[in-house]
Amino acid sequence: MSAACALELPLTMPPLAETPQHSAARRAVLSSDGGSLTIASSSASFPTGAAVQIWKQDCRAGLAARIPDASVDFVLTDPPYGIDGMGEEWDHAALAGKASRASVIGSLPVGMKFDRQQGKQLYDFLLPVFSECLRVLKPGGFMVAFSQGRLYNRLATAAEDAGFEIRDMLGWTYEGQAKAFSQDHFVRKMKIPDDEKARILAELGGRKTPQLKPMIEPMVLAQKPREGTFVENWMAHGVGLVDTSQQLDGKFPGNIMAVPKPSKAERGEENGHFTVKPLRLMDHLIRLFTKEGAVVVDPFIGSGTTALSALRTDRRCVGFEISDAYFEVIRRRLDRA
Ligand SMILES: C[S@@+](CC[C@H](N)C(=O)[O-])C[C@H]1O[C@@H](n2cnc3c(N)ncnc32)[C@H](O)[C@@H]1O
Repeated sequence: MSAACALELPLTMPPLAETPQHSAARRAVLSSDGGSLTIASSSASFPTGAAVQIWKQDCRAGLAARIPDASVDFVLTDPPYGIDGMGEEWDHAALAGKASRASVIGSLPVGMKFDRQQGKQLYDFLLPVFSECLRVLKPGGFMVAFSQGRLYNRLATAAEDAGFEIRDMLGWTYEGQAKAFSQDHFVRKMKIPDDEKARILAELGGRKTPQLKPMIEPMVLAQKPREGTFVENWMAHGVGLVDTSQQLDGKFPGNIMAVPKPSKAERGEENGHFTVKPLRLMDHLIRLFTKEGAVVVDPFIGSGTTALSALRTDRRCVGFEISDAYFEVIRRRLDRA
């Protein structure tokens, strides 16, 4: 796919402290040929002089075709979750329908449709992607991949089987919305005498489907095996250690990160994506695991949050997104940034 520019838009960067990267970013242009978005900066050299480059492409082909071995500092990604509607197919229309019916009894909330094949399918989907992530990372480079509680085990195992060392489970915690469903309605609809219904309802005691209010999204913290000691690896590749001066809450950084979900203003009016991550969280993760100028890759970039965070933190980003609609959202978010 050519990176030739069909569209050039002036890009105004957020007002940050003056650094060489910022002045370069102010000279940036956002260009697009329908298949890729590029924020080119005269000082950035990877890849093809881009500060941000996002490809409308399946990452399984894109990573292999576009990213050289051991060229990337950090993989930060939020892959499809592998649960209903949020699998490989990422069915936006079905998810939107489900969200609009969420309070209607009889339609199951997202994540409740149980299928034993989901975990295996997620593992099979992620294993080759994570193998590519391992290949493109520099030795000692980190990967942080989001998940959801039900299939986190499969995601972490895929990372481990791809060759990563699993360092930790991180958690993004937020104020979630209760999703559990009462069963009373189904009992009331049973074709049985009323006193029998009353007996069952009393026995159930208001119990609901097995979903506590979701308040945590787990992430795997995985590391490509180092070359030598931590110090030797850092001196050779500039990755593999954590910047513990970065604080979210005034304390030593912890593996549970409390950040509110992004507001409508932060997401953007046009952004109907279902799993947008907060910029403050993404900024924190990028700062913890990389230094300025680092290259961050996101194979499943969705509405482009990782790219926005990379710009805000003076890093560079290469991303992939398969959906035309989300690609357009990314274009608008980057343009507005
Ligand atoms: C969980 S969402 C990422 C959301 C993102 N964190 C954000 O803040 O907007 C996963 C994204 O991966 C995309 N996707 C699914 N399969 C893909 C593939 N093979 N290659 C590239 N993108 C893919 C989906 O369209 C979806 O937008």
